[in-house]
Amino acid sequence: MAKRSLAVIVLAAGQGTRMRSSLPKVLHEVAGKAMVRHVLDAAVDLKPQRSVVVLGRGMERVASAVAPAAIAIQDPPQGTGDAVRAAMGALKGFVGDVLVLYGDTPLLTPDSLKRMLAARRAKSDPAVVVAGFTPADPAAYGRLLLDKRGSLQRIVEFKEANAEERQVRFCNAGLMVLDGARLPKLLKQLSNDNAKGEYYLTDLVHLARAAGWDCRAVEADAIDVMGVNNRVELAEAEAHLQNRLRRAAMENGVTLVAPETVFLRSDTNLGRDVVIEPHVVFGPHVRVADNVVIRAFSHIEGASIASGATIGPYARLRPGADIASDAHIGNFVEIKNASIEAGAKVNHLTYIGDARVGAKANIGAGTITCNYDGFNKSHTDIGKGAFIGSNSSLVAPVKIGDGAIVAAGSVIVRDVPADALGLGRGQQVEKPGFAARFRSQKQKQKQKQKKK
Ligand code: UD1
Ligand code: CA
Repeated sequence: MAKRSLAVIVLAAGQGTRMRSSLPKVLHEVAGKAMVRHVLDAAVDLKPQRSVVVLGRGMERVASAVAPAAIAIQDPPQGTGDAVRAAMGALKGFVGDVLVLYGDTPLLTPDSLKRMLAARRAKSDPAVVVAGFTPADPAAYGRLLLDKRGSLQRIVEFKEANAEERQVRFCNAGLMVLDGARLPKLLKQLSNDNAKGEYYLTDLVHLARAAGWDCRAVEADAIDVMGVNNRVELAEAEAHLQNRLRRAAMENGVTLVAPETVFLRSDTNLGRDVVIEPHVVFGPHVRVADNVVIRAFSHIEGASIASGATIGPYARLRPGADIASDAHIGNFVEIKNASIEAGAKVNHLTYIGDARVGAKANIGAGTITCNYDGFNKSHTDIGKGAFIGSNSSLVAPVKIGDGAIVAAGSVIVRDVPADALGLGRGQQVEKPGFAARFRSQKQKQKQKQKKK
């Protein structure tokens, strides 16, 4: 197959009214990534020279999500064929194949796109290659009409189809590859004389046939080409993508004890021999090295976890949590913007924010870094091998030296030097016999009240 150039056009000018949202449809996320970004990323493997996203007026918000793709504005939207026409300005001087995708098909895979491209570049040199699929319910999809030799003759939109054509189960998924050299001539001939009064992209097929050019349909996987029109379908797409991400993780050497309860992001990066217990949720930008154990009910985002660390159960790692090798983060511990150095232990009921915890330090249950005074965030630095007694408050900015000990229950407001003891709590007083006297006094009072 000779090397040829490729341009990608993503159609996304539709309002997506069935989402009932103030957010443009294609910005709704699946596995934490905007749908239109999934579509562009699926095409990246094909190394396109140009990418253009067609948007409607007032959809500027989408532009930053699709960068560095170019933007074309279609105003007003007059159909899918009109949308491709709107994109042509951004493809001036381009020679090669043109791949047209819809912005609301987040499950596209590079594989399905590659097969279409191969068909376009086959010997018969088709002007148009369309992805077909056989959905369980063909509903209102356009129907693909093939001739006896299997060439694509025409796409008939559901609204225009007669009873016999509606029986056809092979449907138009909406993806197309076109020969860029023949495309402008076909676009010129489009008319809007149809049920919707729109310029249908699908009409390019019979126009190409009328010009004597071949057209083909390539069967695609029904899940790959699934479109999202409402929030029910959004949840379906999420479920499919989660299954793919879980499967890929397991194939790469991650143990998921109960895969269906673990939620991953497209960018979750998991090492080998990582074990993830049930009900763990990943937010964006998480990197986990080899041999890490993440125990049940942990929530992790924007964190980096080095090899051999154990996290949870019930841990919360927030952005900037940097957990070094063999560190332990235990139950009901929250870590934010803090590095926990090698072998350190933060095992119970603790908040560590804007801090460094040195290697092998031990943070007792209920320790709080008081990092925020209502105006500014301040840093807490805990040296290596330090021991922080339970239920201590470390009022930042503050520094605990290497090997220092903080007595349990302390409120630490000044630095504690290396190897020193920091003790910051009220002095204890004992009063001999007080408790016994107190009890007998109270009992006497009660008996008096009863007699009355
Ligand atoms: C289209 C196909 C139909 C196919 C179905 C698959 C046409 C005429 N019909 O129908 O054969 O079975 O997709 O899902 O193409 N868009 C624009 N500008 C417009 C109109 C649409 O950018 O003026 C975008 C939309 O944002 C959307 C995509 O094009 O991403 C498809 O448009 P939509 O109106 O959903 O097409 P269907 O009627 O579903
Ligand atoms: Ca649609």
